[in-house]
Amino acid sequence: MPRFRHAALAAAAFCATTAQAQDAGQLNVICSVQAEWCNMIQTVFTKSTGIKVNMSMKGSGEALAQLIAERANPKTDVWFGGTGDPHLQAAEQGLTLEYKSPALSQLFPWAQQQAQQSGWKTVGIYSGPLGFGYNTELIAKKKMPIPKSWADLLNPVYKGEIQVANPASSGTAYTMVATLVQLMGEDKAFDYMKALHKNIGQYTRSGTGPIKAVARGETTVSISFVHDGPGEAMQGFPVATVTPSEGTGAEIGSMSIIKGARNLEQAKKFYEWALTPQAQQFGAAAKQFQLPSNKATPVDPRVPDFKSIKFINYDYAKYGASAERKRLISKWEKDVNSLPR
Ligand code: F6P
Repeated sequence: MPRFRHAALAAAAFCATTAQAQDAGQLNVICSVQAEWCNMIQTVFTKSTGIKVNMSMKGSGEALAQLIAERANPKTDVWFGGTGDPHLQAAEQGLTLEYKSPALSQLFPWAQQQAQQSGWKTVGIYSGPLGFGYNTELIAKKKMPIPKSWADLLNPVYKGEIQVANPASSGTAYTMVATLVQLMGEDKAFDYMKALHKNIGQYTRSGTGPIKAVARGETTVSISFVHDGPGEAMQGFPVATVTPSEGTGAEIGSMSIIKGARNLEQAKKFYEWALTPQAQQFGAAAKQFQLPSNKATPVDPRVPDFKSIKFINYDYAKYGASAERKRLISKWEKDVNSLPR
């Protein structure tokens, strides 16, 4: 009898859990940060709310392309992470929902500005500077100088030794294009990228591909977000990062709710949760060191020190506008990527 009661209680508990899970519903998320962080938030959010999270991982440009493709019949509820420019483009194209979080005032001004510029259709969840990664062992072995400026990357000594992503699929690479255009003026920036092209060994699909290749000794130098360096170094790889002396841009990693989301209630729950200091700590816990947007989130010492970096005054509204982003990417394809190396 006691054994039966035990089994019955267990079954009842199981049914209650199942019912709770069914009641809590589900959520479809496109996640544009690295897999460890995506997996962590998926597990923790599901555990604490009972909401089942279906997660698909995509680079920023690819995520935007998917949202455009499913516009008539959206299958995604929330787009978490990825650079801010394509989130602004999604907002402008009416792909994302206007939603003003009560937590906005807890965020840094740059994150609030991202929300305001989009008509409250996206919000900043983290920020991070663009720079270079290099393999400390390879660079010494090949007797190459450490690149410290954009100009340095044109040194013929790096021929075939530099990787960066393709700006059509990667927000990191689009941040590079937009940064160079703002730093040098458009004509000079394109001349620069044409010259740089000769030193590029490979344009990757994902923005983090190049620093992973640097870490594993497959290439010597990468153009990457510098917050992606420490996670590789923590795994024992010989990686260091540097920011260019002429100045650089930063991303405002963003989050948006999709217009027409089928699971809107769950999407809002996730959105609010993702803006809390508790949830934002999962970035560093997953070895990803962007600066979190909630002012109360503890900042890991491995997060880049923004005060020591020379930044350009990145115009997020201009470079996140659909027409400008499309124009610059197709110009890059035509004038740069099509050239022989
Ligand atoms: O997840 C690491 C990261 O560098 C983010 O900070 C950034 O938003 C994202 O990758 C960009 O990825 P991609 O360049 O592939 O769009």
